[in-house]
Amino acid sequence: MHDTIIIIDFGSQVTQLIARRIREANVYCEIVSCRLPVEQLRRPGLKGIVLSGGPASVYQAGAPQADPSIFQLGVPILGICYGMQTTAHVNGGRVIRADHREFGRTELRLKNGGALFKDLPVKQVVWMSHGDRIESIPGSVALAESDNCPLAAVHAQALNFYGVQFHPEVAHTEYGAQIIRNFLYGICSCRGDWQMGSFIEEEVKRIRSQVGKERVILGLSGGVDSSVAAVLLHKAIGMQLTCIFVNNGLLRKDEAAGVRKLFADHIGIDLDYVDASQRFLSKLAEISEPESKRKIIGHEFVAVFKDEAQRIKRESGGQVKFLAQGTLYPDVIESVSVHGGPASVIKSHHNVGGLPADLGLGLIEPFRYLFKDEVRAIGTALGLSDAVVWRQPFPGPGLAVRIIGDITAERVRVLQDADLIVRQEIEAAGLNRAIWQAFAVLLPVKSVGVMGDERTYESACAIRAVTSSDGMTADWAHLPYELLGRMSNRVINEVRGINRVVYDITSKPPGTIEWE
Ligand code: XMP
Repeated sequence: MHDTIIIIDFGSQVTQLIARRIREANVYCEIVSCRLPVEQLRRPGLKGIVLSGGPASVYQAGAPQADPSIFQLGVPILGICYGMQTTAHVNGGRVIRADHREFGRTELRLKNGGALFKDLPVKQVVWMSHGDRIESIPGSVALAESDNCPLAAVHAQALNFYGVQFHPEVAHTEYGAQIIRNFLYGICSCRGDWQMGSFIEEEVKRIRSQVGKERVILGLSGGVDSSVAAVLLHKAIGMQLTCIFVNNGLLRKDEAAGVRKLFADHIGIDLDYVDASQRFLSKLAEISEPESKRKIIGHEFVAVFKDEAQRIKRESGGQVKFLAQGTLYPDVIESVSVHGGPASVIKSHHNVGGLPADLGLGLIEPFRYLFKDEVRAIGTALGLSDAVVWRQPFPGPGLAVRIIGDITAERVRVLQDADLIVRQEIEAAGLNRAIWQAFAVLLPVKSVGVMGDERTYESACAIRAVTSSDGMTADWAHLPYELLGRMSNRVINEVRGINRVVYDITSKPPGTIEWE
């Protein structure tokens, strides 16, 4: 049983970052809804609790509340922003509307830093994002202040509670990672027993005992998560695994052939390849609304996969009993918030589908509690090359969400060609690792140009390149002008159907990474 920290989510957009910081510090943690009954938090290995931030004000009707009985669980609790405010509110303290709201960089000054700020400088930069602030928590001492927040950090000994008004989980808080480590190691006495090497051994054993002699099918997309899942499953159960690779006609150029070759030649796993391009494209004909595209692709994927699974089941004489998926923790959290958590949902991501219940198969999701960087580390430990492990993320709905407006086979071809050039140039500039994603987006805009002596009237494409550490926030990449110039030249010269290229300089937020 690993040491465990439970993060109670009050709907902050950055709750996942808290989990990432804790995992990076080699401590296992899970995010749970603030509506989960407290009895379910009592478990062996529980070392501490973190209360996340959230968009509500404690005085709003229906605002989520910390359950007062968590303070009787006997473990230290760290409240971040709203997590501190709700703690004050339910324990007889006072929360008030701040005279000056604080958003962004703020100077924090330690008063009596204590264990939470051990070994940290008296003045430091932190990231604030709040309208309310606490005025009192019974029995607490102030640990730090800022100009507009006299209680920017507190310790309430009787409650075993530490609270911070700022966000230690975001990268802009100068010593955020250290503050979290101080909580984990100095206050909760964690041992740091969350390591990827031991994860592989534990998971191989667990999969073997779950699967026995039955067969498993796995939906392979060619992306990092499903590829690493395939290799892990193969290590555990060898030929009992069948990987199904569905070509939806919305993959990057030469992707289907590349994935088949990689698995056959280097990994030694035979793929069950289904070319369903026509089927997807005909369902998408004349659909231009982004959410409709996503839903159609999600449904169609389920339908194709089901057909194939039934066929394999029939042919194996009913021995297929399990479905394996490379689902990651952020997908799980995202789909939980779709079902009523407090965070607002921006896009309906497609990958945790309705597959399992319909198929009547048991589910194997070895990465259900892991983040992407952890899966990459596992991929490397399992011997996968950097080219696979460091692939850029690619959305489940594929190029459909990068073709704005109607999708046709011809527009897919145009975008594939432009996208390949963007990726080739990023690679040639040695920027692959530095850039989170770089791709082309085909716009439903035509403009006039002149090539040779000819008038052209063709599509415009946007280049999108972003830096990010997790895809949740992102900045547009400040690519060198020469590189942008080369991409633009090549796209216009080499891709029939595009005569204008623009560069997208929107960060996330307020934009999203994909255009749809
Ligand atoms: P957005 O566009 O929401 O994207 O800023 C954040 C990250 O998620 C990827 N993305 C998806 N991944 N299924 C996926 O597996 C999807 O439906 C999907 N939509 C977006 C996107 O490429 C970026 O890395």
